Amino acid sequence: MSPFTYQNGVLCAEQVPLTAIAQQFGSPTYVYSKAALMHNFSSYADACKRNGRDASSSLVCYSVKSNSNLAVLNVLAKMGSGFDIVSGGELLRVLAAGGDPRKVIFSGVGKSREDMALALSHEILCFNVESIPELHRLNEVAGAVGKTARISLRVNPNVDAKTHPYISTGLKENKFGVAYEDALATYRVAASLPHIEVSGIDCHIGSQLLDDAPLLEALDKLIELIDTLDAEGIVLHHLDIGGGIGITYDTDQPVAVGDYLDRLFAKVDAWRKARHQDKPIKVMFEPGRSIVGNAGVLLTEVLYLKHGAAKNFAIVDAAMNDLMRPAMYEAWHGVQTVTQRTTAALNYDVVGPVCESGDWLARSRDLAIEQGDLLAIMSAGAYGMTMSSNYNTRGRAAEVMVDGAQVFEIRQREKPQDLFALESMLA
Ligand code: LLP
Repeated sequence: MSPFTYQNGVLCAEQVPLTAIAQQFGSPTYVYSKAALMHNFSSYADACKRNGRDASSSLVCYSVKSNSNLAVLNVLAKMGSGFDIVSGGELLRVLAAGGDPRKVIFSGVGKSREDMALALSHEILCFNVESIPELHRLNEVAGAVGKTARISLRVNPNVDAKTHPYISTGLKENKFGVAYEDALATYRVAASLPHIEVSGIDCHIGSQLLDDAPLLEALDKLIELIDTLDAEGIVLHHLDIGGGIGITYDTDQPVAVGDYLDRLFAKVDAWRKARHQDKPIKVMFEPGRSIVGNAGVLLTEVLYLKHGAAKNFAIVDAAMNDLMRPAMYEAWHGVQTVTQRTTAALNYDVVGPVCESGDWLARSRDLAIEQGDLLAIMSAGAYGMTMSSNYNTRGRAAEVMVDGAQVFEIRQREKPQDLFALESMLA
């Protein structure tokens, strides 16, 4: 379902024309649909239910890095979501948004002592540990604050996710996780540490996966490992398969979330039945993009049109600092005109005002536009705002969330003064 549709010739978010949003909040502005967010989360939650799972035997931990706005987190927290975090800062956001720390898992290859202590003080569900030195440090920090840290090992199953090299994480040459061959020895170390409680296993093989075959292959590898550990008396209580299901940016046809989960639960059920007297294991997910990606657009105004011999440029008020994905991954985002014109379309590169040739949002698009028109950069809800920067002393965009006919400002546009408020000159 897309919440962004034309009504009377104007692109709307749910029932609100984007023209009205630009008028009230200016541009560039990220616009999110609450209904789409809820719908996408439900596709995970419903599939868990349909497969006989309740809150004790499944948990969807939304990946905060994909979009960490408090309103987004709050909508999901109210739906029972857990959260996958990668920093103490993200934990504080989850808490501020009303999230339950007992549903928080802490991923990441470089957790600091401070972040570990903060997470322990809030008794989070689990640390996804990625190395032996990290295990030792977590053990030490937990001992110092008189706590026990529940852990899972992020195992690198060495399967090819067949996605962009920058967002593929499950291969041997990636920096992530514990090598499959080293997992057993690493679990033995974990089991020997006094302030560590071995709880589960996890993996995350990459992002924007259109096919679930690599994920199911990774699941097979995890299952094998869980049984090997079991034989050694190291019993795991949860299995976390990570995030990664992709979305439609252009012509991509990702597997439906519900179908993927049905296949995954069928495998898990058959295995538990055959080898564990049907004893359940809790299954966890860490989706980001598939929940929020297509629930958001970046609304921007055409500042100038430059028609040249070789190329035409539409210079817009959003830039690479607002949406980094095209510059960083040559990512393709749809561009839609907010108001449809009947004049002939010309071919444009849509570029921002930043002083870099890499500052483009879309290339070679046929658009019927004039100066002052509004454009919507589509599928920008995930890894848009969270990866934005202040390059060129550009304040970050405003963010709004639409709920039916209502619009809520969920982050004010940054003012230039905000950007240098923490700076000082020499005495
Ligand atoms: N779990 C872990 C451990 C992760 O590293 C990630 C994403 C996720 C879950 C969520 O994955 P998702 O369901 O969103 O695919 N900035 C890039 C994407 C980086 C993904 C990083 N890890 C982009 O804009 O495409």
